[in-house]
Amino acid sequence: TYVIAQPCIDVKDKSCVDECPVDCIYEGERSLYIHPDECIDCGACEPVCPVEAIFYEDDVPEEWADYYTYNVEFFDEL
Ligand code: SF4
Ligand code: F3S
Repeated sequence: TYVIAQPCIDVKDKSCVDECPVDCIYEGERSLYIHPDECIDCGACEPVCPVEAIFYEDDVPEEWADYYTYNVEFFDEL
């Protein structure tokens, strides 16, 4: 799955939402989140984010590693 990390917070540009072919990017209060089971790993969202907030799960920078969990937890709480 792809993961949205810290740069999205309070930016919420949403260019990624328009690119996603399966509509698996959902809006939270301060950030958007990618549904880990619905994402098909196409990578289309990653290059369009103006603040480079989106990473493949294995490529999330270490300082933002917790964002994988934050994405998963967002959907657990729904
Ligand atoms: Fe959607 Fe593809 Fe991005 Fe996954 S990688 S969130 S399927 S655009
Ligand atoms: Fe956030 Fe970037 Fe999408 S700022 S809403 S991850 S385009």
